[in-house]
Amino acid sequence: MVYLDHAATTDVRPEVIAEISAQLGALGNPSSLHGHGRAARRTVEEARESIAAAVGATPHEVVFTAGGTESNNIAIKGLYWARNAEDPARVRILVSAVEHHAALDPARWMADHQGAVYEELPVDAVGRVSPSTLRAAIERDPGSVAVVSVMWANNEIGTLQPVRELAAIAAEFGVPFHTDAVQAVGVEDVDFADSGVSALTLSGHKLGGPVGAGALVLARDLTPTPVLHGGGQERDIRSGTLPAPLTRGLATAVGLAVSERGEHAKHLASLRDELEAGVRAAVPDAVVNGDLDRRLPGIAHLSFPGCEGDALLMLLDARGVSCSTGSACSAGVAQPSHVLSATGADTETALSSLRLSLGRTSTTEDVARLVEEIGPAVERARAARAKRRR
Ligand SMILES: Cc1ncc(COP(=O)(O)O)c(C=O)c1O
Repeated sequence: MVYLDHAATTDVRPEVIAEISAQLGALGNPSSLHGHGRAARRTVEEARESIAAAVGATPHEVVFTAGGTESNNIAIKGLYWARNAEDPARVRILVSAVEHHAALDPARWMADHQGAVYEELPVDAVGRVSPSTLRAAIERDPGSVAVVSVMWANNEIGTLQPVRELAAIAAEFGVPFHTDAVQAVGVEDVDFADSGVSALTLSGHKLGGPVGAGALVLARDLTPTPVLHGGGQERDIRSGTLPAPLTRGLATAVGLAVSERGEHAKHLASLRDELEAGVRAAVPDAVVNGDLDRRLPGIAHLSFPGCEGDALLMLLDARGVSCSTGSACSAGVAQPSHVLSATGADTETALSSLRLSLGRTSTTEDVARLVEEIGPAVERARAARAKRRR
């Protein structure tokens, strides 16, 4: 079996499994005042310090959450509510058109249910938000912007955003800037302080840590209104008993991913180049999507003219190769990916795409298997489509 879907989720590192297993039986709630509680609290605070050090933040800035989706929801909804409560004129939420649904949907929900104004920042043909686009959007009416959210790196086509420039523009206008860095931490140089962002999302299961654990790194002066109410943990931003074993596993994964980043990115880029060259030799009219100059090293996103991505995925799956399409199936009808559509790709191209994503455990043998399988799969998918159209 070959796994080429590491952008969806990747292997939990053995070191992380060992840390979590060792901690899982430990008794004590980190909020309790007795010795058991204090021991659990120590575990959590050590994890917080270690994550902060790895991503260029202070421990106070690390808020533990259940993952990327929750961190994005807190950032977008919570910052909107807090800023809107301070000044009701602040109603606009600006998000890039290529965000993951975990950012798009909270922003849209706020518009549908909370009186926010949802505004998408358009992207260019490689999926990039230009700084001048953000500037123009804010300048249209600076006092009405509640929050801006633009991801660090795209999960489908891998395009990197000019986060530092975008964050600087938002800062000029005193608007909080959130970035979803779920796909970037551990492969790109993600430094919270240096980037100038106000809030940053990271998630354990994308970098060798446990699923269900993540963090929102949040500047000290920001107090988003909570999405979850309860015991007041995590600066009252995220109530709920802290899962000490998971925080420890997350810290181990983030620490290892960041310290090994250089080598890891090289490993991914070399496999990705091998994969793209092999696929294009097997299928000469395949097209590589995304920003070829500034993209994540571990994602190859390709369109195969005349094929349906879903059919290709199934054919490859039948041959033991797991990968992904960006499209979502709604009521049995494949919908083009909003990311490709935002780059100006037509529906046919968008529906003919596959995402092949590599990880720490990917090998040159995995790539060779995919290269071997892709030609026949494309031929069959094309034949099936031609037959259906007759
Ligand atoms: C860019 C991006 N943001 C957010 C998420 C959601 O993160 P989680 O699965 O930790 O909720 C994902 C996962 O697919 C992602 O790729």
